[in-house]
Amino acid sequence: MSTTFQLDTATSRAHPTPAPMKRLTIPAVRQRKIDGVTAQPVVMLTAYTARQAQLLDAHCDLLLVGDSLGQVIYGLPSSIPVTLDLMVAHGAAVVRGSYHAAVIVDMPFGSYEASKEQAFASAARLLKETGCDAVKLEGGAAMAETVAFLIARGIPVMGHVGLTPQAVNVLGGYNARGRSAEEADKILSDARALADAGAFAIVVEGVVEPIAVAVTRAVPCPVIGIGASAQCDGQVLVTEDMLGMFERVPRFVKVYANLGDTIAQTAAQFAADVRTRAFPEQAQTYQPK
Ligand code: KIV
Repeated sequence: MSTTFQLDTATSRAHPTPAPMKRLTIPAVRQRKIDGVTAQPVVMLTAYTARQAQLLDAHCDLLLVGDSLGQVIYGLPSSIPVTLDLMVAHGAAVVRGSYHAAVIVDMPFGSYEASKEQAFASAARLLKETGCDAVKLEGGAAMAETVAFLIARGIPVMGHVGLTPQAVNVLGGYNARGRSAEEADKILSDARALADAGAFAIVVEGVVEPIAVAVTRAVPCPVIGIGASAQCDGQVLVTEDMLGMFERVPRFVKVYANLGDTIAQTAAQFAADVRTRAFPEQAQTYQPK
């Protein structure tokens, strides 16, 4: 699968790159953290579409095709209904739209937990059909054997511990994790197990800050925080959250823009123009030569 393409139609919105560049490699991301120190924090944002990937690519080290697309794109109540087919379609779009960042695709709920073999079949499909660089899966020690199995067979894996949204029915909600000593110990041992299994990076989500710091110090690979700590080796956010596309976002989101309002105001302007016949103008119509 090639990420470069040429289209010769005046109306296509596809955006071919004139000169292919080298993507960041997964070993290069792992090497950001040397002897426990990450001089250059890892920047990761979610991307679900080709155009979004084009806009984010130059600014990110990693683009995550997160299963959060279930809620963000499809209006689902959680990430649980997200299918492998959806991840393949969106993963391929993001790879087509990016040339610099490494692309990580989430393994959706039900596509990897049953066995190492099931996980390999699903992850291999993601790599083959999207051209992505690595997969991410949720879960700690329980997934360590699977992580080692995938890596031994050529599939780089990013782990995900703490608040793991696919386990919402077991966790009982999306509250911050690690408030009790027992929970804190489990998050730490989960992260260690994933690192020992060879995960090239680990997302730590929605945990109390001291646990995020402890995890970051405990494992040799980069720890990417979301609702965690500025002391993590990198940060990730759901792009639509930080762009202000939603009225409600988790407490850990910093809202950098107000695109939701901009879109609504622009639609209102368009509607007014249509209703008053102010659109289209001369510039937007074809006249006989
Ligand atoms: O699905 C997702 O977007 C994620 C990030 C929030 C880390 O897993």
